[in-house]
Amino acid sequence: MKEKYYITTPIYYPSGHWHIGHSYTTVTCDTLARFQKMLGKEVFFLTGTDEHGLKIEERAKAAGKEPKAFVDELVTELKQLWAIMDIDYSKFIRTTDDYHVKAVQKIFQKLYDQGDIYKSEYEGWYCTPCESFWTDTQAEGGKCPDCGRPLTRAKEESYFFRLSKYADRIMDYYRENPEFLQPKSRLNEMVNNFLKPGLQDLAVSRTSFSWGIPVPFDPKHVIYVWVDALSNYITALGYMGEDDSLFQKFWPADLHLMAKEIIRFHSIIWPAILMALDLPLPKKVYGHGWLLMGGDKLSKSKTENIKKDLVDPFKLCERYGSDAIRYFLLREIPFGADGAYTNEALIARINSDLCNDLGNLVSRTVAMVTQYFGGEIPAPGPYGEPDRELIALCEGALAEVKKNIDALNVPESLAVIFRVIARANKYIDETAPWKLCKEPASRERLSTVLYVLCETIRFAAVLLKPYLPKTPARIFAQLGIADEFPDFESVRTFGWLKSGTKVQKGAPLFPRLDPIKENAALTEIALSLLPKKEAPKAEKAEEQAPAEISIDDFAKVQLRTAKVTACEKVEKSDKLLKLTLQVGEEVRTVVSGIAKAYSAEEMVGKTVVLVANLKPAKLRGILSEGMILCAEDEKGNLCLVSPEQAGFPSGMEVR
Ligand code: ME8
Repeated sequence: MKEKYYITTPIYYPSGHWHIGHSYTTVTCDTLARFQKMLGKEVFFLTGTDEHGLKIEERAKAAGKEPKAFVDELVTELKQLWAIMDIDYSKFIRTTDDYHVKAVQKIFQKLYDQGDIYKSEYEGWYCTPCESFWTDTQAEGGKCPDCGRPLTRAKEESYFFRLSKYADRIMDYYRENPEFLQPKSRLNEMVNNFLKPGLQDLAVSRTSFSWGIPVPFDPKHVIYVWVDALSNYITALGYMGEDDSLFQKFWPADLHLMAKEIIRFHSIIWPAILMALDLPLPKKVYGHGWLLMGGDKLSKSKTENIKKDLVDPFKLCERYGSDAIRYFLLREIPFGADGAYTNEALIARINSDLCNDLGNLVSRTVAMVTQYFGGEIPAPGPYGEPDRELIALCEGALAEVKKNIDALNVPESLAVIFRVIARANKYIDETAPWKLCKEPASRERLSTVLYVLCETIRFAAVLLKPYLPKTPARIFAQLGIADEFPDFESVRTFGWLKSGTKVQKGAPLFPRLDPIKENAALTEIALSLLPKKEAPKAEKAEEQAPAEISIDDFAKVQLRTAKVTACEKVEKSDKLLKLTLQVGEEVRTVVSGIAKAYSAEEMVGKTVVLVANLKPAKLRGILSEGMILCAEDEKGNLCLVSPEQAGFPSGMEVR
């Protein structure tokens, strides 16, 4: 019977901006899954989307859509991205899937029936207009972090999960299973910051919004976030469903992979839920680091606001091919730690590793076989010292790669393969085939050298298959073995490649990139993701004063709702107010000529409409980042334009 391997990514929030942070976890899981498959295991690789909650409900409403229709579009986009990036998942779960909804309700019911879920009151800081609860830390200063209005202490009826009951068992589990939570630093953090101080029971339902799975026996409550989201790992396998054969086969998971910010949920709450359900725990939970840009995590909140920091995986794959992007993600970021994305680093990796080392090795070797042997891979003669060294490196590579994969050191596992490639390039320089070809007495030596090179390339290509799903096939085509798909069995001993095979010269695997040109092009792409700033064209348009504008022209103006969180008069000006605006998660300063109509005090707490992509300008030495909209009558009286509904969230688009 085949050994089983079950691996998962987190299920992603449909944030509307799929960025390379999501690709990072998913590409890594895909590579690990492919690797295990090539080792002969039966693999189940799960990914999906986490679609419920207040945020989605609000964003769908702002977009004038039903939540389900809203998420459907985003999920379609994500699936397209995974197709482009060759993500070969076994199943894509959506928390809106019927079977998941039913199973989560059964899980909730079971936990309630056995007393692990009970009804009580949730107490916290409440913002009435935003209908949001905030914790003590979030509520510091007594103001709503979203809209800046005063918070009140409030209670909401909620169901609670008895998390506190499981603290000791979780601690014991960590002790008895030192491999469970990794890297080690995360384990220490969980123990010292959460388990030792003691766990609080967890509120697992809400009544303040409705876009979620209803509590089966009390439908004014929806099941809140983690019981819904975490259960995906078992409902996807049919747990509490009609057919649980996959669950029987694959649970417990071998690996839940994610970034560090959700490790707590996976290493404390999830084990407690599983203990309550009397199910075995996953074998490993691993929290990798963040992909950073400009010092910030590419997070959901950032990507909504700082679009210039967006590194669009669709655009990168289109430009460089998905294998190059996969390679960068897998090789560049030290696994477990944070790593930076920069255009320079991406271009350097493509040029040095993929183009120079791998690409050149293949094209040089194929060119020499073509030139010296009419395109037929020659039979090797007896092996000498330099040959044996390279052969030993090849034959040891799979074990070395596997050792690193087992330790989840993915970048190092790739480095092992690229050391073979680098050694082969050096071997060409040492053996100098261009000299050997000149002496008839060296014909046998030349044959050996070229056979060793072709077979080494084949080794590297086979080993690269889990990482780069497209490139190895292109290499096999050049080696004349396009139809044979050699696997890991073929890279245990040297000599699989048959002499006499006809090589086939092909296009360069990774054309060399001009760093300056590419950098400019990537900056251009990033700028195109910015809210459009087309000042010169706009001025021209004004000159011509068109009677009508097209919908595309209108789309150039980005209007957003914004909440005034602070306001003061601009010194020595009787017209200007300096406003601090909360626009979603972003804070902006805007100077506005409304002081005659509104006092600074009365502006605080108002929701206004901001022209968010207006070119910033200095007014009285203050940089004004946008303009707020007012209506003006013939006498010059001003009236602010604001959403009709009180407490409408900030950062929403106005169209
Ligand atoms: O947290 N660097 O979903 P999410 C590295 N729905 N990884 C990143 C990243 C970055 N800059 N940004 C995102 C959720 N990720 C919940 C999970 S699971 C039962 C529920 C990856 O859309 C990383 O894997 O915010 C991170 O943990 C995950 O996306 C968070 O995705």
